[in-house]
Amino acid sequence: MEMIMESLSKTYKSSIEKKLVLNNISCHVNKGEWINIIGPSGSGKTTLLKCVAGIMNADAGSKVSIGGLDMGNASEEEKRDFRRRNIGYIFQEYELFSAYTAKQNVMLPEWPYKKEAELRERSETLLRTLGLEDRIDAVPTNLSGGEKQRVAIARALLNDPSLLICDEPTGNLDRASRDNVLHILKECQAEGRTIFFVTHDYDVLPYGDRVFQLKDGTMEEINKKSFILQP
Ligand SMILES: Nc1ncnc2c1ncn2[C@@H]1O[C@H](COP(=O)(O)OP(=O)(O)OP(=O)(O)O)[C@@H](O)[C@H]1O
Ligand SMILES: [Mg+2]
Repeated sequence: MEMIMESLSKTYKSSIEKKLVLNNISCHVNKGEWINIIGPSGSGKTTLLKCVAGIMNADAGSKVSIGGLDMGNASEEEKRDFRRRNIGYIFQEYELFSAYTAKQNVMLPEWPYKKEAELRERSETLLRTLGLEDRIDAVPTNLSGGEKQRVAIARALLNDPSLLICDEPTGNLDRASRDNVLHILKECQAEGRTIFFVTHDYDVLPYGDRVFQLKDGTMEEINKKSFILQP
């Protein structure tokens, strides 16, 4: 799914401060590309992903278009419906519901729309693929950080999204689990899906096609090779 950001800015406003986090960012992502985004903590990576997905409104004058949908002009309902059909979003903080099991959390976004038996099977398959076959019926409080992260990944994959927005999805995983997740995402890309991936882990960069760095509100493309050769 093609993604266009033009003059994207985001200011957080409160009664005591006005903080410009994203300053006039432009970026064009082609269908089927894997884009990695790096940048220091607090540089606005999560803010960028939420603006792109339409979870958060960018400042007036910003343009975000995904697969032809103009996020700035779409209603909340249109954006929600579009996300459900086309976007898999892996939240940095997982955003799991504590009252539900791992399996139910994965099923939740599609529960009102699809047959329960079908969803249950798909959800169990995804959890197994992510190495969670023993934790399918556990609730989030009984899961480790890395296990919760993998439940959040399974949930994002549930609807076979055309665009995967990933906010440090491997930050809490050991190397083997991380590589497993990266391979799963690489397969998604091979099927033509677009990947927008925030990471602090330079080992992830070779999996992507291009790397952008967020810093001081701006985003610039950097040469992927300059990272891959680092020790
Ligand atoms: N709701 C908010 N209101 C005001 N400021 C906010 C809000 N959310 C985030 N910020 C500030 O905006 C800046 C960017 O935050 P953001 O979460 O996008 O950073 P990040 O690059 O994802 O960081 P990290 O790597 O730690 O996840 C930070 O300085 C943060 O304190
Ligand atoms: Mg973040």
